[in-house]
Formats: sequence, structure tokens, C-alpha cells
Amino acid sequence: MTKEKVVSVINKLRDLPSSSLIVKGILETIENPQSSMEDLNKIISKDQALTAKILRLVNSAFYGFPKKINTLTQASVILGFNTIKSLCMSILAYDVFKKQNRDFQGYFYGIWEHALGVATCSKYLASQKLPSLKEECFIAGLLHDIGILIIEQFFYSDFLDALILADYEGTSLYNAEKAKYEVNHCTVGEILAHSWNIPDNLKDCISHHHELEKANNFDLVAIVHTADILCKLKKIGGCGDERNVKFKDIHPMAKKYLNLNDNNYIPLLLSLDSEIVESDGLYKIMFGEKPTQANFNKKENSERKKVLIIDDSSSVRDIVRNVISTEGYRLIEAENGQEGINILKHTKPDLILLDIVMPEMDGFKVLENLKSNPETKDIPVVMLTVKTQKEAVEKAVNLGCNAYIAKPFISSTLMKKINEMTK
Ligand SMILES: [Fe+2]
Ligand SMILES: [Fe+2]
Repeated sequence: MTKEKVVSVINKLRDLPSSSLIVKGILETIENPQSSMEDLNKIISKDQALTAKILRLVNSAFYGFPKKINTLTQASVILGFNTIKSLCMSILAYDVFKKQNRDFQGYFYGIWEHALGVATCSKYLASQKLPSLKEECFIAGLLHDIGILIIEQFFYSDFLDALILADYEGTSLYNAEKAKYEVNHCTVGEILAHSWNIPDNLKDCISHHHELEKANNFDLVAIVHTADILCKLKKIGGCGDERNVKFKDIHPMAKKYLNLNDNNYIPLLLSLDSEIVESDGLYKIMFGEKPTQANFNKKENSERKKVLIIDDSSSVRDIVRNVISTEGYRLIEAENGQEGINILKHTKPDLILLDIVMPEMDGFKVLENLKSNPETKDIPVVMLTVKTQKEAVEKAVNLGCNAYIAKPFISSTLMKKINEMTK
């Protein structure tokens, strides 16, 4: 993933197939400072789904208008042309990426859920600190991680590799991206913001929500930065690095600004519960019911090859599930050796991924058990472990393992190995 490749992908977004002509038209109207609400209205109304979404959102509890708003013109009179433009841009941004029609789910909905959570929490924080900034904070929250969405959609294996590194190092996705690539989700988002002419305040938030000290719009960015971390602490949506985020990751400048400390942040987290209910409501407005992984897999479960992972780390299991689902495999999960052995009494996977360092029964014992059992001895076993010492590798090979992959692994290496061994 290089800056050049990102720029080329973002430029291509402008030349999407004919179904997205409306998207192109809307973007051009939004970008043109001469355009009026009437121009925007004309083009939006050609897309009934988008019109319906905007009206549902405007009529939702979020805005809390007593009377039903039936047309975009009415909405723009009440909310202002700029708010409608920003709202439209946010919905569009997610719609554009959703149109990629992949046959695996990936992290798309988790990222959306996180964005909605950050949007509603930002609005809440603004209502306490600077009410005039509420709507701006909401939109900035929706768009702050738009770069992650681009990376997840167009550079999926790079995205997974950054997540694997983040998990291994116990750090955030942002830090892992910075260590691994020339660009990160903030710089990628900034390229999109520039290309789409997204207003400067929102662009600032997209670029600097992890580097508050560089922000030009301090109030806005400090609020979204804090809401981002609070949502991760509450595990609202996300893409898998939430478990590595701590309260101390809130920038000292933001803590000072919002008067947050070790004693008062827990009550704040609790008070965000009602905001979360609201963001769930908004999610339904935009997407309907949450899809399940099964909706995304073209093949029936019975046709898909099965991989059993025996690993006590839920984050590794999550990442592996996302890696192998790109090629239609199904993951069966066991969080310890005994559970893995029990599962094998009922089902025969095409391959086993086996961790070594696990509580109670370690991977060596599991391997010994599998290879001495006539029912399981022919199932290929790939060790997936942080143990890279020569003795550990030799021991596993002697016990009959078929391949050895060290953590942090590269997603394409793992996939290649699985493909090779399940042919
Ligand atoms: Fe971020
Ligand atoms: Fe975020």
C-alpha cells in the first residue's frame, strides 16, 4: 500500500460504473460552490434509496423534530444546506464503498458501527461542552475513519496485516499502519477528503484525530478523538484493535479540555449507553438489520472447506476468520486444546491451525494426541505460533506437524499455505 496506489484507487472511484452516475453527479453538485439546494435536490431525488435514507435520518430521534419532514427542501430549510450536504456526503461515502459487492463481509459493518458510535458520542460530548458544535461533531464522527474503509475495501490484505501486527504488538491499528506502510488511515482519508472537496474542518478531523496536537480545529478534533477512544473502550463496532486501547490513550490536551480524569471517565462511559442505543437506531435507518456472515458467503456451508483453529486468542481467531473467508473457507473455533479435541470427535476439518502457548493443554500435547489418533492423524496441521525457537520447531516437526508459521504472520502467506494443503 503506497500513496501512489491509494491516489489511483481514489481517482478511479470517480469513474465507477454507470450505476454510480448519481454518486458522481451528487459529488459534483456538492463540490460546486455555485450549486443550490434545488440542484442537489434534483440529483438526490433520482436516487430513491438515498432520498429515503436522508429523510429517515432527518425524521429520527436524533434530530427530534416534532413535525414530520417530507421533502429534502423542507429538510434543508430546517437544517441548512450545509448540513444536508454533509449528511449526504457521509451517507454517500459509505454507499460508494458498499457498492464494491464483495462476497465476504470483512470489517465493513464493524467500521460503520464504530463511525455511528463515534458520531453520536461526539454529539453528546459537544452538547456538554460546546452545544453549537453538535451537528458538526456528528458528521465529523461519521467521517473520521473513512480512510479505514478505503483501506479495508481496496487493500484488504494490507489491512489484515496491519491488524495482525497491531494484535501482536498490543497497539492500535494506526500505530501498526505507521510502522508498516508509507500511508495510514488518516493520510488515506485525507487524500479522499481532498479529492472530494470535503470541508476543511472535517478534513482536519479525518487527518488529525490521532494527532490532536496538529489539529487546526481543536474543539472539534478533541471531541471526536475522545469519542473515538471512548467507543473503543465500550467496544462499539470497530475493526479489531479496540482491545488494545486504554483510557490513557486519550490525549492529555483532550483530557484537560473535557475535564476528564481516572475518576470520572467510568461514569461518563456509563452515561454513553443511551447514545449507543441511538447509534443502533441510526444503524438500522441506514442499513436495516445487521447482516450475518452467512449472507455474504456465496457457497453453502456444506460446500465450503473447513479449517479448525485451536488458539486461545480471540483476536487471532477473528483475524484468521477474516483472512480465510476471502476465499470461501469456513472457520471452526476452539479456544483451548481440549475443546479442539472434542470438536474433532464430531467433525473432520480439512486443516487444523494450532497455537502452542495455551493454558491447560499446550499445542504440543494437542499435536501428539491428534497424530496418535487414527481418526485425525491425516488432517494437515499448521502450527501458528509466537514460538520460533529452533527446539520448538523441531519438536513440532517430530510430532508430525505439516507446516509452521510464525506470528505475527502475513495474511497472504497463511492463505497460500491453506490453499496448498487443502487442494
Ligand atoms: Fe482512526
Ligand atoms: Fe475511530
